Amino acid sequence: MFTAHARSLSLKNSEKLLRRVTCKLPHVCPALTAKRLCEGPVSRRTEPGYYVTTPIFYVNAAPHLGHVHSAVLADCLHRHWALQGLHCKFATGTDEHGLKIQQAAAAAGKEPLSFCTEVSDRFKEVFRSCSVSYTDYVRTTEDRHRRAVEHFWNVLLNNGFLYKGSYEGWYSTPDESFLMPTQVTDSTDSLGREIKVSTESGHKVEWMKEDNYLFRLSDFRTKLQHWLKSNPKAIQPEKFYHLVLHWLENDLLDLSVSRQRSRLQWGIPVPGDPDQTIYVWLDALVNYLTVAGYPQAHSHWWSVVRHVVGKDILKFHAIYWPAFLLAAGLPLPQAIYVHSHWTVEGKKMSKSLGNVVDPHEISQRFTVDGLRYFLLRQGVPDTDCDYNDDKLMKLCNSELADSLGGLLNRCTAPSLNPEQTYPQFCNASFPEESEEPPGRAVSEDYEMVKAVSELPALVKKNFENLHVYKALEAISRCVRLTNGFIQRHAPWKLNCRETEDSLWHETILHVSMECLRVYGILLQPAVPELADKILSRLGVRPGERSWDHALDFLSKYRGRDCLYERRALGPDTGVLFNRLERNTPQAKPQKTGKKQKSVLQ
Ligand code: ME8
Ligand code: MG
Repeated sequence: MFTAHARSLSLKNSEKLLRRVTCKLPHVCPALTAKRLCEGPVSRRTEPGYYVTTPIFYVNAAPHLGHVHSAVLADCLHRHWALQGLHCKFATGTDEHGLKIQQAAAAAGKEPLSFCTEVSDRFKEVFRSCSVSYTDYVRTTEDRHRRAVEHFWNVLLNNGFLYKGSYEGWYSTPDESFLMPTQVTDSTDSLGREIKVSTESGHKVEWMKEDNYLFRLSDFRTKLQHWLKSNPKAIQPEKFYHLVLHWLENDLLDLSVSRQRSRLQWGIPVPGDPDQTIYVWLDALVNYLTVAGYPQAHSHWWSVVRHVVGKDILKFHAIYWPAFLLAAGLPLPQAIYVHSHWTVEGKKMSKSLGNVVDPHEISQRFTVDGLRYFLLRQGVPDTDCDYNDDKLMKLCNSELADSLGGLLNRCTAPSLNPEQTYPQFCNASFPEESEEPPGRAVSEDYEMVKAVSELPALVKKNFENLHVYKALEAISRCVRLTNGFIQRHAPWKLNCRETEDSLWHETILHVSMECLRVYGILLQPAVPELADKILSRLGVRPGERSWDHALDFLSKYRGRDCLYERRALGPDTGVLFNRLERNTPQAKPQKTGKKQKSVLQ
């Protein structure tokens, strides 16, 4: 008799590593449809794009902030690539099979499929309300998915990687995961009874013993090590790459990939063996192939796939999934982007712990842009992050309402910009740094121009490492520099009846608006509505919002024509971002920007 011990990885040390991690994660925004995203005003290039995925979420309970975090992060990456003219695919969806869904449907007194449909629709709704513009939505109960899983199973079988054996060990239903004895610890339940729990997730585990199919995971350790060593960017951020390599220092044990039908009916039957149901994780992982068009037409998208996942499911994506793919003779993902967890008072937010934050409520109270900005700006993928309302309000008030909103207000308020145009730039006032005679710009101004010129490259680099928060931090720093620039030269003190002062006044506004135009373009992936508001107010047309337009910064300074100069501004649609206050049911639109102005002047 063969005995396979569930998860074949010794997580003992890795758990310690994971525990050391303390992390935060980000948030979401609305507006663009997927169609507009991919087919919009950006100039189409010939390079192949990317196919980005989120995990598919269990439908045993309603969506929470953690799910929205993953979806917003993937949405932001997708928008970032689309902005560069790449044709991309972005998939999300729901994981609807398995014991825990079977149990949740039974507890709700509902037939499993209609239970799944109800909850899956709630995920769609929450994503819609958070401006998550996916191009594909997949449910594991769909026929196309069942066909993909059956095909995949047969390929593994025909390639000799499945065999029938007997499994005996611990199983965590909430995690739908097999565990090694070293991954289990003693605990007590709410009634004080002694139980065993997963050390990693804290979820209760049960001993199980049954005959099922096993996957030859043990064959893949060296191949996985080789893959990672030759692809050091395969897992981002780097710390998770090292964690997986660390896991791979131990032998891998074969993995049980089916359950007896008598115990689990809610799932895809093993082809040719109706007494067995395919293990929910094998079923779920294949969703990424289903969306790519597997088995008939997957090659195009499959060659450019990138997965966004939470650290809780890293092992499934960085070990099991690549092993399955290797066994099936398929290419491995280009990248696995891993983020850490949102916690509440130090505890992981999770449906089973009942401490979840409702993203719908947060977006209603603090706006979708507020939620998205917070999630993405505070979401440090390497470490966990504790959620609380005050932190969100403080960040959004300081960076969106005061700093960014104040900058827009200063450039466009009729008091400083009575003609309501994109003003002219005067080279004599702001000459190249070394030129004689010197203009009125000072060295800090040149430093700001340099920082803004370099900003797109910095943003791009940070996106590549999944350090979206650093990209947003860099933008925010530049916004502060531009506010400092205005403050330093106080255009409101200039006497515009004097020609020289008038030209300098216009130049100050022109430079500030050019900065703001770049920030607006670069912020589109993170806060699409807010960015649209900035660009529309500046009079920047939909066809002028691509990545390349951000690279074309301050062209007059460099002796080239400026597309926007003297153009009429767009309509004033009110304050960019209303300051958030405690117990404010919903931010109400204001008509004037007095508050913002007073903060900055
Ligand atoms: O694991 N903070 O689904 P799931 C941040 N169906 N992100 C969080 C989070 C938190 N507190 N809690 C959850 C499953 N997430 C499987 C996936 S994929 C083939 C199958 C996010 O509903 C994060 O992305 O438990 C995490 O990995 C995922 O939701 C788990 O969602
Ligand atoms: Mg989970």
